[in-house]
Amino acid sequence: MRSFVDQLRMVPEVARLASGTPRNTTDAWERYWASVRTTGTQGEVLWDADIGAEAEQYAGVLEERMDGALPIVDVGCGNGQWTRWLVGRFPAAVGVDVADSAVLRARAESLGVAGVSYRTLDLTSPGTGGRLHGEFGDANVFIRGVFHVLRPKQRAQLAANALDLVGARGRVLLTETNYRGTPLAYMQSLGASPGRIPEPLRRAIGNIPVPGHFGAAERRAAFPARAWSTLAEGRVSIEAVPMRGTAATAIPGYFAMLGAR
Ligand SMILES: C[S@@+](CC[C@H](N)C(=O)[O-])C[C@H]1O[C@@H](n2cnc3c(N)ncnc32)[C@H](O)[C@@H]1O
Repeated sequence: MRSFVDQLRMVPEVARLASGTPRNTTDAWERYWASVRTTGTQGEVLWDADIGAEAEQYAGVLEERMDGALPIVDVGCGNGQWTRWLVGRFPAAVGVDVADSAVLRARAESLGVAGVSYRTLDLTSPGTGGRLHGEFGDANVFIRGVFHVLRPKQRAQLAANALDLVGARGRVLLTETNYRGTPLAYMQSLGASPGRIPEPLRRAIGNIPVPGHFGAAERRAAFPARAWSTLAEGRVSIEAVPMRGTAATAIPGYFAMLGAR
């Protein structure tokens, strides 16, 4: 009961913050990334905890199910933290993001890292998967934290581009937050209370699309069984930056490894 009352008391501040979010999602992401000054565990970007235990959940399935001789495309790469993690496992890692400012930041943070490159691209735009395939051939695809912020039609478009990109040999590893409660309960689980919204969360609410959740049902809708085989799936714990103290914030998540039929 207390928790519900607290959620109601948070409404005015959340509504005020969210009213400033641009309607166009590309503009929203661009504005978000252009305003970021610090990344990493002590930084301002909600999902950018230093890579630790979360990655251990992916390493095995990645090694087991992906062809390590193929390049990998990190869709929605943000500041490229995961692109840099991936390049240790594949011959080349290409980060793509809809926001130019994310790509500029990813390049700046990747100076001296061999095998990574970045480009600005909207992967929900028809034909982008085919164009990347024309350049790289069959490729693996890594997607962390992108589907849950897309609308159903955009999810299907992104999956269609991924299908063109993987060809016969590539695979998709997607990992998404899957909190099943209301947006206010989600914010509370991330440490928000009336009069206190942690800064990384405040920046997200004020700039980017409201997140949904993405689990097995949403994956089935976006990746139709006539086109995709699900090779592995399950729960994961996704790490966000600490909201209090120094421990990463754990968010319930869902992962799937997929290949073209
Ligand atoms: C929640 S962030 C996750 C960033 C990164 N994958 C990570 O885990 O650190 C979502 C990212 O997806 C990007 N994005 C959103 N829609 C996109 C699209 N249609 N095409 C490419 N990138 C997109 C955003 O700009 C943002 O950087």
